[in-house]
Amino acid sequence: MTPTDPADRRLALITGASAGIGQALARVYAEHGWDLVLTARRADRLEALADELKLRAGIEAIVIPEDLADPAAPARLVEAIEARGRTVDALINNAGFSRTEGFQAVPWEQHQAMLQVMLIAPVELAHRLSPGMVDRHFGRILNVASLAGYAPATGGDTLYGPIKSFLIKASCGLHLEMYDRDVHVTALCPGYTWSEFHDVNGQRQAVAHSTPEWIWMGPDEVARAGYEASEANRAICVPGAPNKVVSAALKILPDDWTLALAARHGERLGRL
Ligand SMILES: NC(=O)c1ccc[n+]([C@@H]2O[C@H](COP(=O)([O-])OP(=O)(O)OC[C@H]3O[C@@H](n4cnc5c(N)ncnc54)[C@H](OP(=O)(O)O)[C@@H]3O)[C@@H](O)[C@H]2O)c1
Repeated sequence: MTPTDPADRRLALITGASAGIGQALARVYAEHGWDLVLTARRADRLEALADELKLRAGIEAIVIPEDLADPAAPARLVEAIEARGRTVDALINNAGFSRTEGFQAVPWEQHQAMLQVMLIAPVELAHRLSPGMVDRHFGRILNVASLAGYAPATGGDTLYGPIKSFLIKASCGLHLEMYDRDVHVTALCPGYTWSEFHDVNGQRQAVAHSTPEWIWMGPDEVARAGYEASEANRAICVPGAPNKVVSAALKILPDDWTLALAARHGERLGRL
């Protein structure tokens, strides 16, 4: 039976819950009885999702809008949760975006925002929240990285892949540190996934023309795979058979070959 006192209920903090994979993860965690803290910039989207999940799953869903590009946001988020008398049992670092116009063409502030949202904020949140998880002998950290973290960066999108590589490697280190402390740490590495990601970076048409339909996954499938991998305490989860083949190939092919493949992919996307 699920405890009725909120202080005894499991709580998952999901960043980037207003769309795509984050929204799907919120639905999966709610289905499994978790209360939620939903965060992103678009408060109206978060409120609509919270209302849906409260009604459908009978959970508590707290909305705390934040812009994670603000370096003060992670601390503010943690304080706002503590002020409600709740503790975070699962941290889902999912918020993300990419800029594909080329390294020089993108203003520095945008590069900085990418580094802050996808690299610093996830690590800071893990650093702030994992001690409580260790003390309570229960915790989950699910970092939404990408298959791109295994590939050389695509030209034009220079920082995205390296940021995701960092997240995979940092996740693996934390997985090892936390393994015997009842805290599961997992890097989820999706490949092409239907969401708003490619609308936001303006690449919808280009990716639709340069990738086969079968390589795409739905956000719900990706979220389910991530949830199961986290519960099973797997260090890395690459969802979907085609993505598993691609990640295996990227690990065994010589660097020159993967770089040539990345160059070809960049040309087909019109980035080089
Ligand atoms: N789609 C793919 O093909 C794919 C593949 C591999 C990995 N991924 C990764 O999956 C994760 C989720 O992406 P998605 O595909 O679901 O994309 P999406 O549909 O565009 O969703 C991105 C989410 O991130 C949030 N976000 C972006 N900038 C933010 C900021 N400054 N502060 C707070 N939240 C911010 C957005 O919310 P607001 O705009 O409301 O702030 C939104 O909720 C990302 O980390 C992405 O890198 C995606």
